[in-house]
Amino acid sequence: MSEQEIKVPDLGGAEDVEVIELLVSVGDTVEAEDPILTIETDKASVELPSPGAGKITSLSVEVGDKLNDGDVVGMIEASNGSESGESDSSDAEAEEPEEKEPKNETDSESEPEAEESKPAARKKSAATRKETVLVPSLDGMEDVPVIEINVAEGDTLEVEAPLVTVESDKASMEIPSPYAGKVDKVLVAEGDKLSEGDKILEMTVTEEDGDEDDEQDEGSAESSQESTSAPETDSGKQKDKTEEPAPQPQGATYEPPSPGTKVHAGPAVRKLARELGADLTRIKGSGPKSRILKDDVQSYIKSQLQQSQQGGSVGTGSGIPGVKLPDFSQFGEVRREPMSRMMSVTAVNMQRSWLNVPHVTQFEDADITDMEAFRQSQKAAGEKKGVKITPLPFILKACAAALAELPQFNVSLDMERKEVVRKQYIHIGIAVDTPNGLMVPVIRDVDQKGLWELAEESAELAQKARDRQLKPAEMQGACFTITSLGGIGGTAFTPIVNTPEVAILGVSKASMQPVWDGSEFQPRLMLPLSLSYDHRAVNGADAARFTALLGQLLGDIRTLLL
Ligand code: COA
Repeated sequence: MSEQEIKVPDLGGAEDVEVIELLVSVGDTVEAEDPILTIETDKASVELPSPGAGKITSLSVEVGDKLNDGDVVGMIEASNGSESGESDSSDAEAEEPEEKEPKNETDSESEPEAEESKPAARKKSAATRKETVLVPSLDGMEDVPVIEINVAEGDTLEVEAPLVTVESDKASMEIPSPYAGKVDKVLVAEGDKLSEGDKILEMTVTEEDGDEDDEQDEGSAESSQESTSAPETDSGKQKDKTEEPAPQPQGATYEPPSPGTKVHAGPAVRKLARELGADLTRIKGSGPKSRILKDDVQSYIKSQLQQSQQGGSVGTGSGIPGVKLPDFSQFGEVRREPMSRMMSVTAVNMQRSWLNVPHVTQFEDADITDMEAFRQSQKAAGEKKGVKITPLPFILKACAAALAELPQFNVSLDMERKEVVRKQYIHIGIAVDTPNGLMVPVIRDVDQKGLWELAEESAELAQKARDRQLKPAEMQGACFTITSLGGIGGTAFTPIVNTPEVAILGVSKASMQPVWDGSEFQPRLMLPLSLSYDHRAVNGADAARFTALLGQLLGDIRTLLL
């Protein structure tokens, strides 16, 4: 037994390549060429293979470390018979992958046999040859555009690793690698049109004596045969699958995660899984030696989506079926235009809030007859100051007082940590209708500001919003929002809480109403208030208290001074 360094191979000129995943731990037993870790450049992710079979005795890198050619990432203690791997690794072409049996539970029975055959394996040498991979039969299609290149120069590939994705008007399909080996040169680019027989890439193919038998044992003889015939496309595979008497259901790719499970997947598949947020330990590989293929990842994601659409356990309302659009042109002429960024962002935020927050709306009418008289009395003073005073600053002030009195409205919920975040400041957002969509600038420390200051600041921020001059910081940090449609009209509405806030006040148009004073009806100016709140944070009684308090404060604005 001897210890051997696990070194970073030639990175094809790439430097400071980041470790994105450690695939083994100290104490793990690995086979030669088993992936030790994954590194990623801006072009590709590559697995660093073990130089031989044995036990990992040390690992000197962590995720995020930067590696260069020849860096030592750990040590491996060679197991019996693995010296061949060692000597192979000192060979100039030692980086070429040697197909090995992945070590897992189901393999254990055949292990003694494998051990016995080691002397034979010792004689094996990783012969290499150059091959040009050609486009296989495309079921009669020609000039099919390449929509994705799945590999980069320098990538080490397994048989069946997807090379490029092509898309006709009928289907997209991946062209898999017919060989294991290293990509020398990619000969196509996105957008190129391919037909059968066109060149895709040049490879240095690794070929090991005796390995073909192994592959055949795994039922993947076709893919491992040394052959110049073009590979089978995924469309072909799909066709085969549909001919099977009992096709595998989509959900069959789902398996509960088993900690410590070794994942066998190529760099392109790992990258795809990362992009889609798929946990590879949950996916059953359908490739040779249970390798996870791109198809498996896609099927897994599809099955998860189907589950959630059928009201599965995925949270936040994503189980809601989508809205199917009819062909509107059958009813008359239509014109389609892209959503503005602001519109699409608002749409996502609204939906997120609506789906996440159990909304309840509490209504109240505030008698603002006296407040309005006072406001009118201040108009001349306002003109002198150059400030227009509308009902809004009074409402801001009343809300600040109500938030101080009922602090359960001045919170956010951290459901992940099961915590209530209590804010010790009172910043209030005001919804502003602009030609570009809804914007919500924030007035800070409303409780510490006077009516004139609030009138000036709200008018200034509303103007900035309309002029698209708001800075991001001016739209952040609100504890509560006021959305006032009073200048426009309406008697009541149910605003959507601006999460992570827990309440929002909708203000409708004040109107003169006959109000019974105990002996007769009096004409009073009544302001309709609609308080929507997150029922997880606020209970109904507190919401009624909040709107009743607003009614009192706006009914007698002297109380705002108390
Ligand atoms: N009842 C009756 N009149 C009202 C009122 C109310 N609740 N609120 C405002 N007004 C009056 C104002 O006093 C003013 O009249 P005046 O010129 O005679 O004094 C007029 O309506 C226009 O006021 P406005 O310019 O809208 O000022 P504001 O301070 O009330 O509101 C904004 C400022 C930014 C909130 C407002 O312009 C706005 O954009 N509102 C729309 C918000 C929105 O789109 N919400 C929906 C979110 S989904």
